[in-house]
Amino acid sequence: MTGSTRWYDAEQLRRISEVTIAHYDRLAEAYWDGTRDHDVNQNYAALLDAIEGDPPYSILDLGCGPGRDLRYFRSLGHDVVGLDGSAEFVAMARSYSECEVLQQDFLAMELPESCFDGIFANASLFHVPSQELPRILAQLSETLRSRGVLFCSNPRGSNEEGLSDDRYCCFFDHDTWRDYVTAAGFFQVSITTAHWGCRATSSGGSRPSGAKGKVRHASRPSGSGGALSDVGVWRMVHPSGSGNSSFIDKREWQILRKGIGAEG
Ligand SMILES: C[S@@+](CC[C@H](N)C(=O)[O-])C[C@H]1O[C@@H](n2cnc3c(N)ncnc32)[C@H](O)[C@@H]1O
Repeated sequence: MTGSTRWYDAEQLRRISEVTIAHYDRLAEAYWDGTRDHDVNQNYAALLDAIEGDPPYSILDLGCGPGRDLRYFRSLGHDVVGLDGSAEFVAMARSYSECEVLQQDFLAMELPESCFDGIFANASLFHVPSQELPRILAQLSETLRSRGVLFCSNPRGSNEEGLSDDRYCCFFDHDTWRDYVTAAGFFQVSITTAHWGCRATSSGGSRPSGAKGKVRHASRPSGSGGALSDVGVWRMVHPSGSGNSSFIDKREWQILRKGIGAEG
């Protein structure tokens, strides 16, 4: 296991993605069996309720896994695209959802600019090493239309990161995650706490250990009872002059500048 105090070079980052994706490739069928019936209706609603304007919406399911959520969004008539690094999941998701699914590494994504009304990142962004998170969040903001919405659900921890059961995981606390997302120009629509891996919240993942220190190592717990996730909805507002025609109002601009990140 490694902590986030070290800096990974390009080859090490490539290897981190490779190992994590291989984990899901290996366990793809078991993962699907274990999560296909998870009730994530609250997460769907959190994203869809925050998107402005009339449906259908253009949605990116980031780290879509086997396609449960793609299929749901498609069933509502939305225009949904999946993205995942696991070849097994990509094949399963294409077949199950009949949606377009891109096979891409989070750390090397090619995404269109100002394309999506919403991004659904259910139990996926916690696999991005903190070193790369600002770049990835900036990329996600660019692929959203102005006032587009990022939904993310991540297991909560105390800022540990590293390899945990063959997957690279970051387990941030609430404030740390908020700081990353607001630094990328998003402001908070809502944050709720949920039980990790349970019905009506999110799926997959493991909860963090109780190690001490500011930056800690990730480790997989022996059990999952009581693990929490932070379920956040964030809005991207591109400032005027960025080439995007939408303007933010004075209050939103103040919130962004102060980095408070709370809409309501
Ligand atoms: C815990 S699963 C969540 C899957 C799905 N969103 C769900 O809720 O069931 C994490 C997903 O992130 C994907 N993933 C992890 N690291 C990745 C990377 N570096 N690039 C692309 N996908 C990755 C995995 O293949 C997996 O589908």
